[in-house]
Amino acid sequence: MILAIETSCDDTCAAVVSTEGEIASNVIASQGLLHARYGGVVPEIASRHHLELVDAVTADALERAGAGLDEIDRVAVTRGPGLIGALLVGLSSAKALAASRELPLVPVDHLHGHVVASTLAPDPVEPPYLCLVASGGHTFLARVDDPAGYSVLGQTLDDAAGEAFDKGARLLGLGYPGGPAIDRLAREGDPEAFEFPRSAPGELDFSFSGLKTSLLYAVRDLGDRAESRSADLAASYQRAIVDALVNRTRAALERQGLERLAIGGGVAANSELRTAVADLGVPAWIPPVELCTDNAAMIAAVARFQEPLEYPSYLALDAAARL
Ligand code: KG4
Ligand code: ZN
Repeated sequence: MILAIETSCDDTCAAVVSTEGEIASNVIASQGLLHARYGGVVPEIASRHHLELVDAVTADALERAGAGLDEIDRVAVTRGPGLIGALLVGLSSAKALAASRELPLVPVDHLHGHVVASTLAPDPVEPPYLCLVASGGHTFLARVDDPAGYSVLGQTLDDAAGEAFDKGARLLGLGYPGGPAIDRLAREGDPEAFEFPRSAPGELDFSFSGLKTSLLYAVRDLGDRAESRSADLAASYQRAIVDALVNRTRAALERQGLERLAIGGGVAANSELRTAVADLGVPAWIPPVELCTDNAAMIAAVARFQEPLEYPSYLALDAAARL
């Protein structure tokens, strides 16, 4: 059994997963509401709450799995990328747990976690596959031939798709995080009411900063009428983001000759995106929402394929804001 801890942003997460990829527990303590009043994640507040929560969340993950530390064979933890203070809490905690039993430790790349979340049971995707990862901090297309690694085929040159959702929501006067708020409001609007750009920076890369600016101008031009058109604005804006993601995904599938698709990252929770990727003509692995947004089960998923560090070699290991 693998015990995994993830604290790269504002969710304190722990999970217990078997080496076959069966999830015994996947606990997520979201700090979302604590940061909402600031309109985004405040790094220092996130670190402090991770510190308060990490022991309880880990104990809860073990309890829900019906396991004690005796049943754990290795500890996995997110090493980066993410908020450095937040990462340090999870890494220190994982090191302490592993060292207390002289267990091996697997330091994991958070993005690798999003890429292989869909290799978990009960319906694991088999490589080779294409994975679209779209989260608050990252947006990229990855090719996976062996889940021990991945190669990036294209990525965003500016904002991440989740950032585009969050910034768009702010312009529309919706709360944080913006993705779920736009997703909800868009259901009542007309996705063709406004013409927003689908920028094509070439190859398989993405760009979302121009789109955000167009929304800003549309809201400004509407003036007093913007509020009454907010559902149409949300629907059209969401359609533009989803189109950009789906068009590049289709192109990558064709160019790479890949016949299986997985999606991951917080934006993979978006209802329009989930419907659109299911219609791409290849089998699509669309994980449940709790495996799309940040979680520790996906960190354990990576640890199934990666060589662990033996005790005590990992004690000097540092977290990394960027990998
Ligand atoms: O993967 P994640 O939980 O954290 C990061 O590693 O960034 O992703 C969070 C992002 C936020 O930008 C949030 O607005 C977006 O995922 N998100 C959504 C939805 N749910 C979360 N975006 C669009 N539609 C959703 N339903
Ligand atoms: Zn993430």
